[in-house]
Amino acid sequence: MSALECSSSTPETGRAVTVRLAEVISALTYALDLTEGQRPGHTLRTALVAMRLGGELGFDAPTMGALYYAALLKDAGCSSNAARMAALFGTDDQSVKRDMRLVDWHDRWQLAMRTAKNCGVGRSPITRIQHFLRIARTPQMTREIIQARCERGAQIAVSLGFPIASSEAIAHVDEHWCGLGHPVGLAGDEIPMLSRVLLLAQTVEAFFTENGIDAAVAMARQRRATWFDPALVDRVVSWRRDKAWWASIADADRLDAAVVALEPGGLPEHASDDRLDAISYAFAAVIDAKTPFTYRHSTNVARYAVGVAQVLGANTQLSRDILRAGLLHDIGKLGVSNRILDKPGRLTEIERDEIKKHPVWTSQILERVPAFRHFADASSRHHERIDGKGYPWSLTGDHLDFTARVLATSDVYEALTADRPYRAGMSIEQVLGIMKPDRGKAFDPQIYDATIALAHDGTLARLASSADDAIERLRPQGAASPLRRLSAA
Ligand SMILES: [Fe+2]
Ligand SMILES: [Fe+2]
Repeated sequence: MSALECSSSTPETGRAVTVRLAEVISALTYALDLTEGQRPGHTLRTALVAMRLGGELGFDAPTMGALYYAALLKDAGCSSNAARMAALFGTDDQSVKRDMRLVDWHDRWQLAMRTAKNCGVGRSPITRIQHFLRIARTPQMTREIIQARCERGAQIAVSLGFPIASSEAIAHVDEHWCGLGHPVGLAGDEIPMLSRVLLLAQTVEAFFTENGIDAAVAMARQRRATWFDPALVDRVVSWRRDKAWWASIADADRLDAAVVALEPGGLPEHASDDRLDAISYAFAAVIDAKTPFTYRHSTNVARYAVGVAQVLGANTQLSRDILRAGLLHDIGKLGVSNRILDKPGRLTEIERDEIKKHPVWTSQILERVPAFRHFADASSRHHERIDGKGYPWSLTGDHLDFTARVLATSDVYEALTADRPYRAGMSIEQVLGIMKPDRGKAFDPQIYDATIALAHDGTLARLASSADDAIERLRPQGAASPLRRLSAA
């Protein structure tokens, strides 16, 4: 029996599927919420607040379209500062990010108290003080961390072919009306209108979800003309008695459909296969940016898996599914703290258990995306072994289809051969010493043999070094950069 025939649920081929772009992007925002430590649906609720503001302000259709995708991708750069946040605070990056979003940074006492609370949580008093002092002595660090996030998010939006206005909105989402925001310090009307809308919408959402309508409205009033455009605050204050609308945005069961239904621009925009590939590449970049230890891991795993699958006879559609399943296989890692992912020493049992949850989150996120649902199982089973000794579900081979098996092999091969900050990538001979004893135990024998053959003839190395990312191909030629003001700052 061939490796392809071993598949217990080989994805159907030649499917003609119409996919709504809004459906794909909005479902994937749950991964961004995980990275930001926000409650599930934070991004979608923010989009609903932002779109109501945009509608009441009379934005035209192109502007509403730009606002819609800016709201969905506002945190696309979130993973790029996760490692620095965790290192700086000595705490789980997600909890710091969630908590610090509620602080009024212009209130120095409140900022100091909240920073102290978040430094070195669970560690010795001396360590906590050291973290606090480092933050207090390097105020430019905050700007750099926010700039990294804003730049990355804006780049991703423009790479996916969304309007420049969307990228610009993301680039300046942390500017404050009074000029004390980041990363440039724009003030008042200098700040792009869509950025002003997004900042208010995301902060209102955070307070509303934590403490209800009154807390959200009180916060907006309190930060009127410091953080927020006063005219926008007045709009939000006028919604105070609209309890039905607040209840509607809090309705988790209807949230996804409500956001997809709000997609502006008349007919729904459909995602082509090339665009779905580009979205998968973009989220692979978000995943790989989470930690310096996994640079290009997702992209390489996907490319290796496709190379091996094609040698074993996979057709075009199956290859495409394997590419996307590979690019997104570790999307659940966005929910794991960098305090654990980047820990230099041995992990505790609790920390290992935390890491072992990431395939579960991968499964939950991909299940939300109708266009990706058929490979959610395969993608999330990349740490399972055919002898049943893998994790997190201890599934045996009869539950692991071709895609899951080829991803499991490529995942280990990539992890061993990739350079890491603390060691060079292993040679093929070293890899053989580690992987070969697991041929037929962890790895499907035919897939293992094909992988090693492609490693020996240099194919996998060529796949890793090729730079034909779909993201790059989608980059608009000659488009003005939304980052010009960032780079000039
Ligand atoms: Fe993984
Ligand atoms: Fe992986």
